[in-house]
Amino acid sequence: IQGALSEGPLQGKRVLVTSGPTHEPIDPVRYIANRSSGAQGTAIANALMKLGAEVVFVTGPADAARPDGVHLVEVQTAAEMMDAVRGCLPADAAIFCAAVADWRVVSASDSKIKKTKGGLPTLEFAENPDILATVSQMDDGRPGLVVGFAAETDDVIDNATAKRLRKGCDWIVANDVSPATGIMGGSENAVTLISDGGSEAWPRMGKADVAEKLAARVAQALIK
Ligand code: CTP
Ligand code: CA
Repeated sequence: IQGALSEGPLQGKRVLVTSGPTHEPIDPVRYIANRSSGAQGTAIANALMKLGAEVVFVTGPADAARPDGVHLVEVQTAAEMMDAVRGCLPADAAIFCAAVADWRVVSASDSKIKKTKGGLPTLEFAENPDILATVSQMDDGRPGLVVGFAAETDDVIDNATAKRLRKGCDWIVANDVSPATGIMGGSENAVTLISDGGSEAWPRMGKADVAEKLAARVAQALIK
């Protein structure tokens, strides 16, 4: 097990990271989900551990291999992710990389929905809890630094800036995931870090480099 290094600026700091998609069941064989490989969240967990942090990694069913040395909590649905996050607090910082499904199917069927029944199924949706907003707005036990991600296809900076204010997180990492960028599913990312001090566009770089740059910023923020 790799785990937190015994030296480094984040030694003794506990950081929670959410990662991957959530799966919301329709029936035992079908689900709705967001696209997310889990690569960026995994890279962030690894970068934080390199700086000495203890990392709690709450992940949905992502393709990316689980990082070694984290406290691993695996979930399927947004509701389970919300419960897991609550159960893993307190933390010094929390970074929300997960692509949480915004809606769940109200009454998922216990048995497979068959085409032979005829007609089209109708699905009723309910909104999932907003984990980032919930943690950002906690009166008791809010992590000192709360970071969200905003994957947008249009008006990226405006949307992400509004999202930061609406949810109440400290920083939001905005990225343009429109198909032309080729970012979704790729190994690179081009992000803008938005805080109350304004926005800072980082050049396009590997996801591991984005992770290391962000982890360094987290360290700066936690030790000052
Ligand atoms: N997030 C979360 N819980 C949710 C939805 C989103 O914790 N139920 C977090 C994500 O992990 C991310 C941030 O909120 O850090 C922004 O997610 P995004 O899907 O961009 O925001 P939404 O408020 O869901 O808005 P949109 O309508 O653009 O999907
Ligand atoms: Ca969403």
